[in-house]
Amino acid sequence: TAPLRLGIAGLGTVGVGVVRLIQEEAALIAARAGRSIEITAVSARDRKKNRDVDLSGYAWEDDPVKLAQRPDVDVFVELMGGDSGPAKAATEAAIAAGKDVVTANKALLAHHGQALAEAAEAAGAVIRFEAAVAGGIPVIKALMEGLGANRIKRVMGVMNGTCNYILTRMESAGLPYETVFEEARSLGYLEADPSLDVDGIDAGHKLSLLASIAFGTRVSFDAVELEGIGRIDIADIRYAGDMGYRIKLLGVAQTTGRGLEQRMSPCLVPVESPLAQLNGGTNMVIIEGAASGQIVLRGAGAGEGPTASAVMGDVLDLARGVRYPVFGQPASTLAEPVAASVAAP
Ligand code: NAP
Ligand code: HSE
Repeated sequence: TAPLRLGIAGLGTVGVGVVRLIQEEAALIAARAGRSIEITAVSARDRKKNRDVDLSGYAWEDDPVKLAQRPDVDVFVELMGGDSGPAKAATEAAIAAGKDVVTANKALLAHHGQALAEAAEAAGAVIRFEAAVAGGIPVIKALMEGLGANRIKRVMGVMNGTCNYILTRMESAGLPYETVFEEARSLGYLEADPSLDVDGIDAGHKLSLLASIAFGTRVSFDAVELEGIGRIDIADIRYAGDMGYRIKLLGVAQTTGRGLEQRMSPCLVPVESPLAQLNGGTNMVIIEGAASGQIVLRGAGAGEGPTASAVMGDVLDLARGVRYPVFGQPASTLAEPVAASVAAP
C-alpha cells in the first residue's frame, strides 16, 4: 500500500510533537496503520527558527494554503491555531482540493464547524479533530464510536489544562497567579492568546464541539454561557477549601425540556470527588449514556506528547480507511439547537 503523505502546517508545541512522534515511532505506526506515514512538507511563519527537530527531509512552504494544495500531500495537518486567517484559508483550500484534514484547532471548528463539515462532505473529504478536545484523551473517538449507539444525557468535565494547572498550583504550592501562569506557559499549555484559556473561551469551544457530537446538533458556541477564572484569587481557593470544596472550571452540556444547556464556569466541587482530585494539566470528561451509564475519561489535557498522540490517532484512522462524518452524522442532519439558559451555579 502507498504511504500516507502528510503536510503539516504549524511547528509549535503540537506540530513539533507530531514530527517527533512520527520520527521516533515510524515502524510501530506503520505496522499498526498497515502502511507507512510520511511527512512530505511543512510550514510555519519563521523558516529560520531552531525547533530542536530535524526538518531537513521535508519540503518547506511559507504559505500554508500552498502546502494544503500540494499534489504530494494526502492529509493536511493544521496545527497553527486561530479561528480565521491562514488556519481557515488553508483548511478550506485542503478541502476544496479533496484532501482530508486533521486539526487540533477547536477555535476554528467552534466558529466554522458547520460550514467546514458541509464543505468536507461535498468534497468527499473528512475532518478529524481528536486533539482539539481534552488533549491526549480520546473523547471524540469514544463518543463517535464506542458510545455511538447511546442517547447521551449529559457531557461534563474539566477541559482546559491551563486553568486546572493554575487553580491547583495556586492551592497546593501557595504560589501567586503570575508564577503559575508562567509555569503553564513553559509546559506548552497556553493558547497563543492566553485570554482564551483564562476567560474560559477555549474550554467553551471544546464543550460546544462535544455537545454537537453528543446531541446531534449544529455547533453553537455562541450559546455557551461562559465565565473564566480571572476573578478567582488565592483567598477564594482557601475559603472553598475551608468548606470542603475545590474550585474547578467545569463544563456541562445537557438537553432538558427547554433545549440545550451549555455552561462553562468556575464551580465548587467536593474535595472527595474525582473532579476535585485533578491536578496540573489533567482533564476529565464524564459522559452519561442512556445505555452505557456513566463513562469517565481522565488524562493529560495539553502539552506536546499528549496532543501529538491525539493528532496521530486521527492520522492512523485515515491511513486505515476509517472515515465518518465530521460531527458523527451527516452535516445536513444536525439539528439547529434551541439554547436553554442556565441558572448560575
Ligand atoms: P504554537 O506553539 O503557538 O505554534 C503555532 C505554530 O503555527 C507555530 O509554528 C507558528 O509558526 C505557526 N503559525 C502561526 N501562524 C502562522 C501563519 N500565518 N503561517 C504559517 N504558520 C503559522 O501553538 P500550539 O500550542 O502548537 O497549538 C497549535 C494548535 O493546537 C492550536 O489550534 C491550539 O489550540 C491547539 N492545541 C494546542 C495544545 C497544546 O497543548 N499546546 C493542545 C491541544 C490543541 P512560528 O513557529 O514560525 O511562529
Ligand atoms: N490551551 C489549552 C489548554 C491547550 O490549556 O487546555 C489544550 O487544548
